[in-house]
Amino acid sequence: MSDPRFLEVAEQAARAAGQVLLDWAEKFTVSEKGPSDLVTEADIAAQSAIHNIIHDRFPDHGLLGEEGLAYAGSSGYRWVIDPLDGTTNYVHRFPYFAVSIALEFEGKLVAGIVYDPTRNELFAAALGQGATLNGQPIRTSKFQTLKQAMIIASFPPGVTADSAPIRRFLTALPRAQTIHRSGSSALNLSYIAAGRLDGFWSTSLKPWDMAAGALLVTEAGGRITQLGGTPLDIEVQDLLATNGTGIHEELVELFTGV
Ligand code: IPD
Ligand code: CA
Ligand code: CA
Repeated sequence: MSDPRFLEVAEQAARAAGQVLLDWAEKFTVSEKGPSDLVTEADIAAQSAIHNIIHDRFPDHGLLGEEGLAYAGSSGYRWVIDPLDGTTNYVHRFPYFAVSIALEFEGKLVAGIVYDPTRNELFAAALGQGATLNGQPIRTSKFQTLKQAMIIASFPPGVTADSAPIRRFLTALPRAQTIHRSGSSALNLSYIAAGRLDGFWSTSLKPWDMAAGALLVTEAGGRITQLGGTPLDIEVQDLLATNGTGIHEELVELFTGV
């Protein structure tokens, strides 16, 4: 199921896409897909680089890419791709964005790569084989309580002041050590896997925002569920990821009914 060629090809595709993002950094133009939902030529060009590499090596695999690319294969495998996670950051030259590439077999995540081209950091995971950063094994942090935790929240584009995401944020803010908003879900999940962050939640994610990062978190010893604690489903928009300690239950409890 998790053939070593999958991670090799995913890494090759992620590095190629990362280079495309760096090459476009000085010349892209920006369009709006919706309110505060941006896309650039770099998103499209990076997706095309990934698609070419994967389709060439695995022509019978299916693929789902954020920028309007979706087809079913004949093999049970499907690649789930975000060519640029963190487009708003990219547009503002805030260096926190990444390429995210995951592979599912019959709906189960089997491989994932998140690549940060700015720092040349490559996060990789294969089902049952652990997670690595630039080839070195990584594990989640050991902080046990919300009071000790650094957490990242995310809000949907066009969030309003009196909405549930803001209520959840205000509920968690005084209870955690610190809460950030970052703009790249794929990197947030990778940072949990690497022990740099203790938790992240969102209620507005798409499959490509979370697929690779979800496998990184679980393979590094963390926990990932929906907000209410039920098993993660990448087709469902909400997600709670933590280092796997009591912080997870604290957040599930805190958000119940909010
Ligand atoms: C966004 C990031 C962000 C999340 C947004 C996503 P994009 O992805 O993952 O963390 O809060 O909902 O749209 O648009 O930069 O690929
Ligand atoms: Ca994304
Ligand atoms: Ca994207």
